[in-house]
Amino acid sequence: MPDVGLLSRTHGGAPPGLLDFSSPSNPLGPPADLISYVLGCAAEGVYSSYPTWLYRDLYESLSSFLGFDQEQLVPLNGAAEALSLAPLVLQARSLVVVEPNFGDHEAMARVLGIDLRRALLTREGSSFTLDVDDVIKEASQAPKPLVVIISRPNNPTGYLAPISVIDDLSSRLPRDSILIVDEAFIDLSPGPALRPREDLVILRSLTKAFSTPGLRLGVLATANLRLLEKFVSALQAWPVDSITACAFSRFLRDERARRHVEEGARLVQSERPRLSRGLRKAGAEAYEGEAPFVMIRHDAVQNPLFQQGLVKRGIYVRDCSSFYGLGPSFSRVSVRKPPENDRLVRAVSEVLAYGPR
Ligand SMILES: Cc1ncc(COP(=O)(O)O)c(C=O)c1O
Repeated sequence: MPDVGLLSRTHGGAPPGLLDFSSPSNPLGPPADLISYVLGCAAEGVYSSYPTWLYRDLYESLSSFLGFDQEQLVPLNGAAEALSLAPLVLQARSLVVVEPNFGDHEAMARVLGIDLRRALLTREGSSFTLDVDDVIKEASQAPKPLVVIISRPNNPTGYLAPISVIDDLSSRLPRDSILIVDEAFIDLSPGPALRPREDLVILRSLTKAFSTPGLRLGVLATANLRLLEKFVSALQAWPVDSITACAFSRFLRDERARRHVEEGARLVQSERPRLSRGLRKAGAEAYEGEAPFVMIRHDAVQNPLFQQGLVKRGIYVRDCSSFYGLGPSFSRVSVRKPPENDRLVRAVSEVLAYGPR
């Protein structure tokens, strides 16, 4: 793998053998039925042709699963694909990102030679909030055209911007701005999710909803068909591979798909507060939020020692030092099943009490 220096990227994902709290998704793991469809599609040899013909089925299934018109969506190679494409497609001269946030925006801005501006979420005690004025200020000063990116819920803080905040933001953005609301984790939060509309682009992630990050499938949706067409024109010919397209087109029609996501979201809702309480008792500050992960602050033992201490105990968490606006005292932990969460709390408690040994 090339060492790309400035362009190197930091993402979650545990080394083999460790319990992975670093890449959040549905805590129930991948559904058995989906795996059966993957095996079935592979046995049929769908990989021996380009996936084009499968997209008709995929469009239908995604449309009925998400409740979006087929004409207003496009399947992607994960939500991440749209984040990388957006500045190119829109020929943006600047990006405004609500930070801290997931994404390779810094690398993108550098390689495209465009402006990157940041509007930081505001910390209020143990939670975060967005001051729309901050984004508008950056957007007003930024060269146009402009892409504005916000994740909802936000990764890594867990802050879920109410739809009224998105409405306010959208209505005040300068002309020649496109607002992208990255709802990669919305299925696992209390929501509600946005519906396709003219004034913004929504991103959704099936990899998060079904805990299958290796089966790359995301969705871009908007009622602005001119904009949708631009994205479609810029996509590579086959953004989703044949096996993923085949398996998801079949599985998403299955009532069990919806149930899996709903049960995962319920588990997050019940476990998140319990995990946060445990982490606070263990000596960390745990931030409020509505996502399948919790951001914590651990001043007593900072990263990389904090992460190393957990690795010694068989656990891998996301060191948040690489997120803009955060430092070595912050980490993000996924919400998993109760016994796993208990194991994390015990390990955090030991690391904070005795150091990384
Ligand atoms: C906020 C956010 N958006 C998008 C993605 C990428 O999702 P996908 O796997 O669908 O590309 C991630 C991955 O962690 C994320 O955290």
